Parts: sequence; C-alpha cells; structure tokens
Amino acid sequence: MKSSVLFVCLGNICRSPTAEAVFRAQLKAAGLIETISVDSAGTGDWHIGKAPDHRAQTAGAERGFDLSRLRARLVTKEDFSQYQWIIAMDENNYRDLQQLSPPQYQHKISLLLDFAQKKIAHRNVPDPYYGSMADFHHVVDLVEDACQGLLAHIQRELS
Ligand code: 4NP
Repeated sequence: MKSSVLFVCLGNICRSPTAEAVFRAQLKAAGLIETISVDSAGTGDWHIGKAPDHRAQTAGAERGFDLSRLRARLVTKEDFSQYQWIIAMDENNYRDLQQLSPPQYQHKISLLLDFAQKKIAHRNVPDPYYGSMADFHHVVDLVEDACQGLLAHIQRELS
C-alpha cells in the first residue's frame, strides 16, 4: 500500500497547505514522490474550495514552494482510514482530529512539531491568519524543519 501523509490545520489556507507544499518538495528531493502521497485539509469549513491565503503563497514562493494550485477542503471520516500519517499543526487541531477519528485510527494522529529537529519551546505552529508577514515566514521556518524530521521518521518506519 502506498504511504500517505495528511497535514491538517483549521482553515486549510495557511499552515497545512504550506506543509503540503514543503513536504512535497522534500519528497521530490528525496526521490520519494512516487512512494509517499501528500495532501492537506482543514477542520473548519469557511474556506472550502479557496486557494491558500496570498500571504502564505508569498511566504512559500520566496522559499521556492508553490502553493498556488492547492484548494482548501474539509477533513472527512474517510481520511482517517485512507492516510497513514495525519499531522496536526497545533494542539487544537490535534484535539479536534482525535474527536473526529474512529477510535481504531486515533494512533495515526501526531503533532507536526513533535518531529521538529531544532530545539523549540512550544508544540504549536502558531496560527498566522490574524498576524503579519513575519508570522507567515515563521510558519515556513517551523514547517520546513519539522517536515524534514517527519520525512526522516517515515523513512525509518518504511525501511
Ligand atoms: P490556517 O489559518 O488554519 O493555518 O489555515 C486560518 C485560516 C483561516 C481562519 C483561521 C485560521 N479563519 O478563522 O477563517
């Protein structure tokens, strides 16, 4: 069975699409794009069908990550059986996912920053929606580091 990763935040227009684009670039660089599939989704329904927030697109593009073709969608019940790794951006998303998930799939849910390689004092990728461009750049920094850690973890599990 093909391995798969689903990144989840609240709106699916800032943090989780950033993680999707970053992780996809890292999979390409590692030659794993045919082995591991990646998607993102939100726990809130306000932005379904919309492209990522233009600030997230800009912050990503400045670092070589293309978010422009992604479109927001809601997490579904089927996601919990379909995806092997379900990665929450913050503890609120984590709690919401635990509640939405059928019990037999709850073990698939993790927090992204538990895979961080750099030392950080918190477990949440802060929600940048009401913030500044600096907050969006901070999201890319946190996501890029933790996605590398996640990829290394998955590679160990698959080997
Ligand atoms: P995200 O950011 O969860 O990283 O996509 C947000 C986007 C939209 C809203 C909140 C957070 N909102 O309240 O509409």
